[in-house]
Amino acid sequence: MQLQGKVAIVTGGGSGIGEATAKLFASLGANVVIADWNEAEANRVANEINRMQPANGGAYAAKADVSSEQQVKHLVQQTITTYGFIDILFNNAAVVLPKELEDITELEWTRTIDINLKSVYLMIKYCIPEIRKNRGNIVNMASLNGLLGQRQNPVYSATKGAIIAMTKALALDYAKDGVRVNCICPAGVMTPLLEDWIGQQPNPTETIQVLVDMHPLGRCASTEEIARAVVYLASDSSVFITGVALPVDGGASLGY
Ligand SMILES: NC(=O)c1ccc[n+]([C@@H]2O[C@H](COP(=O)([O-])OP(=O)(O)OC[C@H]3O[C@@H](n4cnc5c(N)ncnc54)[C@H](O)[C@@H]3O)[C@@H](O)[C@H]2O)c1
Repeated sequence: MQLQGKVAIVTGGGSGIGEATAKLFASLGANVVIADWNEAEANRVANEINRMQPANGGAYAAKADVSSEQQVKHLVQQTITTYGFIDILFNNAAVVLPKELEDITELEWTRTIDINLKSVYLMIKYCIPEIRKNRGNIVNMASLNGLLGQRQNPVYSATKGAIIAMTKALALDYAKDGVRVNCICPAGVMTPLLEDWIGQQPNPTETIQVLVDMHPLGRCASTEEIARAVVYLASDSSVFITGVALPVDGGASLGY
């Protein structure tokens, strides 16, 4: 199998894209750490993986707020204690804050930046010594709005744009170690996060139609379709690819 014997950490693995990716990693033979601040959901996903075919990799649920340095350190230690090493880090956890800039409080700004961006810095800082040993790789979750912007989503867009820039910078720094760093940029993916954002729009029904129409392929992505792109970047299938921000967007970046 493509990821046989690998060890992967998936942040935000208790829901949506993280859940689908953790399950796909395991089905390809990896052992997966499901890192999420929602302990019940992390446990659910880990249990579901562990009930899958015995030939698959296993899963371990770790409760962690990845914006906390102390909790990230503990998460990495738990991973090493459980599985011994780290090959793949998928930095996926994030939250949305769909508000105009003038309506955002300083506390909301700081919290969103911490959850979406500081978490990526912390996870890489504490995982890279292990990833370097195995010449592994890092996949960061960005978004199409980090490339193109999005109305009424300035802080979230700023975090995703920063993740794209940081991915490219780190790809340069870690290339000498044989460690690749890439990110993916989905448009609409039907998950609790997107449903939450839709629910906060003035006209949710109209918003769903706008979402569908912005993808030339005529629909939002499924979580499994995004997971397949993550596996591509995390596996040897993309062995000569580093520093890319890959749109996985049904053509939405062609002009929405
Ligand atoms: N759904 C979309 O349309 C879409 C589009 C582009 C990019 N993305 C990105 O994909 C990623 C996953 O989004 P999703 O739609 O699957 O969302 P989701 O809400 O379904 O899942 C996010 C998970 O992250 C966890 N999480 C959030 N903050 C955390 C923290 N500080 N510590 C630990 N866990 C935390 C949540 O508990 C949840 O389980 C995010 O980075 C998001 O920005 C999503």
